[in-house]
Amino acid sequence: MKILVTGGCGYIGSHTCVELLNENYEVVIIDNLSNSKEDVVNRIEQITNKKVKFYEGNVQDETLLKRIFEENKIDGVIHFAGYKAVGESVKKPLMYYENNLESTITLLRIMNDFDCKNIVFSSSATVYGVQESPKYVETMTRKETSSPYGTTKSMIEKIMEDLYYSDPTWTISLLRYFNPVGAHSSGLIGENPNGIPNNLMPYILKVAIGELPELTIFGNDYETPDGTCIRDYIHVVDLAKGHLCAITHALDNKGKLHTYNLGSGHGVSVKEIVDTFERVNNLKLNYKFGARREGDLPEFFADPSLALEELGWKTEQSIEDMCRDAYNFIIKETEK
Ligand code: NAD
Ligand code: UFG
Repeated sequence: MKILVTGGCGYIGSHTCVELLNENYEVVIIDNLSNSKEDVVNRIEQITNKKVKFYEGNVQDETLLKRIFEENKIDGVIHFAGYKAVGESVKKPLMYYENNLESTITLLRIMNDFDCKNIVFSSSATVYGVQESPKYVETMTRKETSSPYGTTKSMIEKIMEDLYYSDPTWTISLLRYFNPVGAHSSGLIGENPNGIPNNLMPYILKVAIGELPELTIFGNDYETPDGTCIRDYIHVVDLAKGHLCAITHALDNKGKLHTYNLGSGHGVSVKEIVDTFERVNNLKLNYKFGARREGDLPEFFADPSLALEELGWKTEQSIEDMCRDAYNFIIKETEK
């Protein structure tokens, strides 16, 4: 079976390619390298000892997409390509709507033309918005999101649902990720954003290696046990395995629309992440408590029971594993 992975050179895409190849899927990647490097392809091949077919280009490029579908008999698509920085999306909304929506619509159109109607999409817990309970269940309705980035995810979910209702021969899996962190245990692939990171773990890593002086924990006056925000952190390899389960299930159960939470089901506070990172890596992090970050919710975590029931998937790796693997990756990156 041959899977087209859009954005396959990125953080979650690269880990998913590894899991697909390990299960003997053939992998074709399209990535325009706007937030990744081509060397990731070599690293995926090094980890798996398998070959990947790589096309450098934009998913909005219809001609290139047609060529990919002509040159490869694609059985399913996992669609990661898109911009993902919440803060940047507030400043540059058009850039986000254009890239995330146009690439998805172009992709769906070409898939339809080639009668390849099986897609797994990277959605996000952000589509839940603010709910009455912090435990998010797929049956909850999508609410107002906190950023244009989040809105692109909600809009794409809606577009895909409408497509399915218009033509139920499509197989569509909307995967709502919670907070992916960690890296492959080889240390060859992981997340190392350019500039000052927005997300917690990449920021911790830059402080740990001395590239940034200090972490600010945004708020310690929330109504949580230690006053810091609670999230559902998921090891990126567990998340990648979730994609493997989703595409395998979709290939066996055609003509369905699925929505799954991919999270551990456990809330962990920012302070607990910092303490665990220090303990497992045997180091001290420079950090202080600061003001709350605008738009942050005090607490949310997944109800992952549907993914367990239907896909047989659940997380296996601990917060300790996430902290250890993330640090191992950044140390190897900086040694290069
Ligand atoms: P990433 O930026 O590391 O990977 C995205 C990849 O897509 C990059 O390699 C980038 O070069 C590529 N890309 C972007 N636009 C493209 C285009 N138009 N054509 C071709 N390639 C393009 O991000 P990630 O963390 O791996 O996230 C993957 C997906 O998961 C994204 O859609 C993101 O919104 C979603 N997601 C991520 C998180 C998270 O916390 N990382 C959480 C929820 C959802
Ligand atoms: N945090 C800090 N200091 C930092 C960075 C983050 O204390 O320097 C805290 C945040 O306040 C939050 C927690 O760490 O409490 C996690 O923050 P992240 O930025 O890592 O993740 P978010 O939960 O804010 O963001 C995630 C995804 C987005 C998604 C968003 C909304 O990364 O894709 O959830 O659901 F849009």
